Parts: sequence; C-alpha cells; structure tokens
Amino acid sequence: MKQIRVLGIVGSPRKGGNTDIITDEILKGAKEKGARTEKVLLNDLTIKPCDGCNVCFKTGECKHKDDFITLKDKLNDSEVWIIGTPVYWWGPTAILKAFIDRWYEYELKRQFFHGKRVILVIASGGSGESYSRHIIGMIEDITQYLGIHLEEKIVCTGVSRRGDVKNKPEVLKKALEVGRRLSS
Ligand SMILES: Cc1cc2nc3c(=O)[nH]c(=O)nc-3n(C[C@H](O)[C@H](O)[C@H](O)COP(=O)(O)O)c2cc1C
Repeated sequence: MKQIRVLGIVGSPRKGGNTDIITDEILKGAKEKGARTEKVLLNDLTIKPCDGCNVCFKTGECKHKDDFITLKDKLNDSEVWIIGTPVYWWGPTAILKAFIDRWYEYELKRQFFHGKRVILVIASGGSGESYSRHIIGMIEDITQYLGIHLEEKIVCTGVSRRGDVKNKPEVLKKALEVGRRLSS
C-alpha cells in the first residue's frame, strides 16, 4: 500500500496552543498507521501578503521570494493537508489568510490542488460553533472551487488558554481517530 504523506499547517501564532495540539494528535494517529508526517508553524515563516499584482499570471510565479517557495514543495509533496487556525474575530488568523491568499499563484494551474485532501482544524474561545461559521464557509467554498476534497472538520469550542484542549478528551480522541483513518 502506498504511504500517504500528511502535512500539518498550523495557523496559530501560539506554539503548543490548542490548534497545534489537535494537529499533533491527528499527525500522531496518521503516523501510527504508517503515514509520513510533517508539521509547519506558519508563524515561524515569512509569508508576505498577496499584492494582487497578477505578476504570477504572466510569469507563472509570485514575485515574493519568501518561505512560501519551500512550503509550495511541501504542499505539492503531500496528499493530505491539515489546515488549522484559531478563530480570531470570527475569522482565521492573518497568517493563515496570507498563506491561503498566496494560492492565487495556482489559480491558472488548478491541477496543483487536484487529489488533495483537507482536514480543517478550528479552535475557538467561545462556546458554540457559530464563532467558526465563517471559517468553515470560507474553507468549504475554497476547497469546492479548487477541486480539493474537504474530508473532515474538527471544531474545538470553549478553549481560551493555551492547552485548554487537553481538558477535552473527546476532541483529542476524534483527532487521533481522524489521523488513523487517513491511510485507510
Ligand atoms: C486576537 C484574538 C481574537 C479572538 N477572537 C475570537 C472570536 O472571535 N471568537 C472566539 O470564539 N474566540 C476568539 N479568540 C479566542 C481564540 O480563538 C482561542 O483562545 C483559541 O483557543 C486560540 O487557539 P490557539 O491556542 O490554537 O492559539 C480570539 C483570540 C485572539 C487572540
């Protein structure tokens, strides 16, 4: 059986935060089943915002020469992307949005996205999934538009402080199971 490659992309600036912990748990489950796993913390990288200059449409490449270049290789080299973000003002973090905006470079080369599978991870301080609804809607629309399969959503509500998710065993159990299922 072909080994699947799973890339965790953490859009929280908080290392060891709730998004990070849930992502680790998915990766742990995936690794147990033989997947090759890797994680990137977007906040450790320099990803400049898209300028909308459309240079990429003309030359095939973004004019920004930053860490998105190496990240593109990792994205290309993985079948499953775990996309994680906390809710910041009813939306994703700025770094996660900057990362997604840079996908614009592939607007004319959609085959980059074909066959990719996404697991969405969201952590919110507020209880109730309504805080996450815009992020869910955004990711649903983007994945549908680009032909990416949105496979699972893990929404962890009512977690405010770093590591609060450790008090939510049901969320961590789901994350581990989602990770284990990726290879089946
Ligand atoms: C700038 C900022 C804005 C936030 N806005 C919201 C919000 O709109 N709704 C909400 O439920 N939680 C909000 N939160 C709380 C975070 O979503 C929550 O603390 C989450 O657990 C952080 O995840 P992390 O540990 O992965 O960073 C906000 C936190 C920050 C720092």
